[in-house]
Amino acid sequence: MAEGVEFLQALAQALAVVALYPPGHTTRLRALDSTYQKLLDLFAVNKRPVFSFLGDEVVLGNRPLRELRNWEWSNRLAGIGIQRLEFDSTIPISLEELDALLDHIVARLTLRPTDSSVARQERVTGIRFGAVGIGDEVALEEKPEKEETATATSAFSLEEEAEAVVWVHDVLRDGGELPLMEAEAVVRSLTVAMHGDQQMMLPLLQLRQFDEYTTTHSLNVSVLSMGLAEWLGLGGRDVRAVGVAGLLHDLGKVTIPKEILNKPGKFDDREREIMNSHAVEGARMILTSDQQLDLAATVAYEHHIMIDGGGYPSMRYPRDCHFASKLVHVCDVYDALRTKRPYRDSWPAKKVLAYIGQKAGSEFDGALAHSFMAMMGQWEPRLSTLHGDETSPATQQSPAPTEQDFGLPE
Ligand SMILES: [Fe+2]
Ligand SMILES: [Fe+2]
Repeated sequence: MAEGVEFLQALAQALAVVALYPPGHTTRLRALDSTYQKLLDLFAVNKRPVFSFLGDEVVLGNRPLRELRNWEWSNRLAGIGIQRLEFDSTIPISLEELDALLDHIVARLTLRPTDSSVARQERVTGIRFGAVGIGDEVALEEKPEKEETATATSAFSLEEEAEAVVWVHDVLRDGGELPLMEAEAVVRSLTVAMHGDQQMMLPLLQLRQFDEYTTTHSLNVSVLSMGLAEWLGLGGRDVRAVGVAGLLHDLGKVTIPKEILNKPGKFDDREREIMNSHAVEGARMILTSDQQLDLAATVAYEHHIMIDGGGYPSMRYPRDCHFASKLVHVCDVYDALRTKRPYRDSWPAKKVLAYIGQKAGSEFDGALAHSFMAMMGQWEPRLSTLHGDETSPATQQSPAPTEQDFGLPE
């Protein structure tokens, strides 16, 4: 949409001017006026424009703005924690408010102390900005759980759920829209399996073939994330929202060639770059599929970012990630290391938990890492490994992690 592109270009120009000139300077006023005018032009065709900045990509509503691909400001804004910028034409926005917004962004970019009144203003004016999904409730439909399935967890094979996940991935690989209903149905079904015998259980799938990895891993991360969310006392609706985010966290991998996904050796730089793109790609797919899934998009984007700012996508200025991203990150690493991969064996649970403890506070959020360890300690006897066979992970050797793993479990 041309108006959206023109507005962002005017905004970027104004940001450069605001960084140079004090309030009231004519150059600054002119840039501000022009941005304001572009915003009004945009309002004429879109009453509530919502921009998302996903690394190299800018999305307006649910449509990527192709003209702004690799636009440097997208990375810059995302890097200072502004992954989302929305305007509501039904609430009058003054020129002063737009000026305050620009000033606030420049302050963040230049690490000047920010005026906290702007942060307060964002709630009462027609401008809101922040991390993707900030303050937004994920509006998952509230439906009663199935009641008839009060059987033992071991009765669940999760085969239907695995098939549903394979189908969801196929649809996306073929360029289709994310089938949200199916993804939510899988999560509801997992919660039933977790509470099947009225005692909490964590039904985890064991990998049989390497090309099943993304499917089994997605289901396991969803189960573990919901287990941890529940352990922390989150309500059912939030637990399921985290479950959907866990299920979809690696969605971007549907675009990665199988030869790279299942490569037995080390990645070269190009392969590493392609592999790492799954975070941004996944977030883009989720945002362009359904605007209600902000939380899942955030988690897809942030699940490889470490608490110390390491990992990927890289951030110009370290910022805190969403709670759900940090939660899924721990569960993601746990499942990745517990699973045999073409380039290494699986690790025993004890070793993985020790690793998580060791990296608490640097890679992982300290409190979440310790909660996860406590949860696994208590629920260990209630882990139910499905498709188990003779070569269970605990009996296998676990050589030292390769570079592929270290800090970067997929
Ligand atoms: Fe990942
Ligand atoms: Fe993952």
